[in-house]
Amino acid sequence: MEVCAMMSEAFAISRRRFLNISSRTVAALGLFGLFPASWRRVFAADGPDAFFVRQIITEDSRTSRMIAWESAVSEPEAVVDLRCAGAADVASFAAREKVFVDGGERLFSHEALLTGLAPDTSYEYRLRTGDTASPWFSLQTAADGTFKALIFPDSQCSDGYRTWRNAVEKAAQQQSDADFFIMMGDLVDNGEAAYQWRQWFEGAAKIIARLPCAPLMGNHEAYDLNWQCRLPLGWLGYFPVPGNGSLHFSGWYYSFDWGVCHFAALNTQWEEVDALRAGLFEEQAAWLRRDLAASRKKWKIVLMHKDIIEYDYPDGSDPVTGDISATGRALMPIFDELRPDVVLTAHQHTYRRLGHILHFAPSEDGPFYIDTGNCGNCYYDVPQNMRFDKKMLAQPERGNYMTLEASAGQLRFQCFLPDGSLADEVVLQK
Ligand SMILES: [Fe+2]
Ligand SMILES: [Fe+2]
Repeated sequence: MEVCAMMSEAFAISRRRFLNISSRTVAALGLFGLFPASWRRVFAADGPDAFFVRQIITEDSRTSRMIAWESAVSEPEAVVDLRCAGAADVASFAAREKVFVDGGERLFSHEALLTGLAPDTSYEYRLRTGDTASPWFSLQTAADGTFKALIFPDSQCSDGYRTWRNAVEKAAQQQSDADFFIMMGDLVDNGEAAYQWRQWFEGAAKIIARLPCAPLMGNHEAYDLNWQCRLPLGWLGYFPVPGNGSLHFSGWYYSFDWGVCHFAALNTQWEEVDALRAGLFEEQAAWLRRDLAASRKKWKIVLMHKDIIEYDYPDGSDPVTGDISATGRALMPIFDELRPDVVLTAHQHTYRRLGHILHFAPSEDGPFYIDTGNCGNCYYDVPQNMRFDKKMLAQPERGNYMTLEASAGQLRFQCFLPDGSLADEVVLQK
């Protein structure tokens, strides 16, 4: 079919290793008796040993996609089968297996980078070891034009991640045309708690196997079970994000393109990890200058977990800092220099449309800032900052998610409440 003819040489090479098992009877491994039933929710009982099946964003989602999953036993021969939607021909991509130990659990992580894909094309993929295969999952490559992204702010929960699951299911039902989703950091409350990661992945089940995830690291991913700072082994293990060329912070920050936009996904955890691994801020700042300068995309968007406003100042009138947080004081001068169009933050568990800011003051010439809110059940009482907050939700807030619809001429951000009602909207044009 036409879309298959558009595949590149890299894909064609893989096709020569074509393995078609679709007509065979799938053999049962019987491994799932070892694992909690909830881990098996995407597969039949005779499916492969695999859980947390997910798509991860790549640098260029028109032509590549990362597929990752975990297994409880070693599966060194595991592959990802890929086919154009409904087609018979299948290409197989080898997966890299590594042992992943964290939070008292020992798992096997699998990563398969699918390359040579055709843009704007509907594919299907499955996981397979020998004759045992998972169901097929849908995979859509990015196009050059318009797109819609889901944006989920802090999802950390204390209710078994039911609030997170509800947010995902509402967004999936309401935004069925979304192309990918962004996690703004603090996915879990404690980054070393294996049971929380399990609950988080279960909550994301409606979307994470069929839409690529672009995750940020939050400060809660850098806490251990005793609430001390640690290297974020869980987050780094679960999210093989695009490379950044770093020796010490590979996987900590990255960038990617989708449609008309370039996204720089920053890491704001230098305060938590500097004593353990120094140099994150300086290295990342130099990288950001190179990264944004190199992009020719019309829209440039910075994603970062920690917010730029210090809401702990009770009257919003500190004369020295101008209510800007330490993170803001460190990064905003760089944004003033590089002028991304938009900066999205999180961390405060409150939705705030802050507007354009330049040199720590409201100004139409500066980047547009939005604190994206909260979609877990950890609710804080956050007063209004009279100087910067252009829009806040009714207090006490009870969660939200956001969407970004992008086209060559405009970016539209919308904020939705848990009942699906529209709470705020902003359109930027140029
Ligand atoms: Fe948080
Ligand atoms: Fe946070």
